[in-house]
Amino acid sequence: MEKLIIEGGVPLNGVVEISGAKNAALPIMASTLLAPGVHKFSNVPRLRDIATMRILLSHMGAVSEHDGGELTVDTTSVNVLEAPYDLVKTMRASILVLGPLVARYGRARVSLPGGCAIGARPIDLHIKALELLGARVRIERGYVVAEANRLKGTVITFDQVTVTGTENVMMAAALADGTTVLENAAREPEVEALATYLNRMGAKISGAGTHEITIDGVVELRPSKCRIIPDRIETGTYMVAAGITGGHLVIRHCQPAHLEAVTRKLQLAGLRIEERNSEIEVWGIDNIHSVDVKTWPYPGFPTDMQAQFMALMTLGNGVSVITEQIFENRFMHVPELNRMGANIRLEGRSAIVRGVTELQGAPVMATDLRASASLVLAGLAAEGKTEVSRIYHLDRGYEVLDEKLRKVGARIKRVRE
Ligand code: UD1
Repeated sequence: MEKLIIEGGVPLNGVVEISGAKNAALPIMASTLLAPGVHKFSNVPRLRDIATMRILLSHMGAVSEHDGGELTVDTTSVNVLEAPYDLVKTMRASILVLGPLVARYGRARVSLPGGCAIGARPIDLHIKALELLGARVRIERGYVVAEANRLKGTVITFDQVTVTGTENVMMAAALADGTTVLENAAREPEVEALATYLNRMGAKISGAGTHEITIDGVVELRPSKCRIIPDRIETGTYMVAAGITGGHLVIRHCQPAHLEAVTRKLQLAGLRIEERNSEIEVWGIDNIHSVDVKTWPYPGFPTDMQAQFMALMTLGNGVSVITEQIFENRFMHVPELNRMGANIRLEGRSAIVRGVTELQGAPVMATDLRASASLVLAGLAAEGKTEVSRIYHLDRGYEVLDEKLRKVGARIKRVRE
């Protein structure tokens, strides 16, 4: 196993280039199951989750190649309509193959994801919606088995906003008979990006990016090409990196409009931020203001930025209340940040963060993807040496994080444990 060793206290300075969004690439990769043939994507990040999705697609009979940022997926010979437990347990997003498989092949067998480090995360809303589209769904030995002749369009109102749920059902409805309306749909940019790709394949989807998505089913789709949108969570993480180290970063190849809620909170925390077309420039300050944050579905403050923002707030000049409203157990970073000298107390779904004047380097353990990012950020600001172990979590979602940080002056290295 590998770990990161960080010598903190260096203000970061320079240019960071943002990679393609993992959470946009994964559903788009799953959507290739809807149209047999060769699909081509660019700006696809080299991440463990992308590799896992490739393994999953190859298990089904697809052939893919990932060269630089270019990814081709050939779904001509898909014949195994199954997502096995071993893959689903390492990546929950594997559930995204359920909708496409049942819509295109009339059958799918996908392992139930089970618990994960950030909570129970059920998939009941995905299943309920597929049943409303006419799929017969049963649970068999830990697997969801779904069958249908042809799905039939209908009105589906999600009880709760779900990102992959919206994506799964949108993909299924693209090949259904008639019109499907998704109410209380997720509005995340990744949902919109998936709709754009589906439309390129010949789907008829409107309203993606709003609460209500309308999908007029078509009989078949054909492979196409697209460029993956920039990763807004990676962008936000580097914005915090500039802030927490009191540095100055120019963040390129990003989409500032996707980060409005994050930018607003960072400005309230005192960071100076300038936005240009596909670029954000951030200046950190010495005196970080404590501000409260509540996570919400997009366009609210993303749960995937909660841990990183908390790292910044550990050095705030007062008290910040950070409330997690999406996942019930997403505070695994709190005890680790406290081990670095932070003063954070948990009260139900809120973390009460009392700012301290300095963090101290310590050995810490990564528990999930974004929690790991918060520990790296804290390590960059801390006095002395921080060792972050179990960084395979980071490699799931941050493309060459240590390399990008080194380029802007961080003293960070990757070593074998
Ligand atoms: C996606 C993102 C993840 C992000 C999350 C919230 C991907 C691959 N992952 O995850 O990075 O943190 O959105 O922005 O895009 N829920 C149910 N039943 C369901 C589905 C969801 O109760 O069937 C609940 C979840 O437990 C959670 C809430 O709904 O409390 C939102 O989850 P959801 O939006 O579905 O998250 P994911 O799509 O899994």
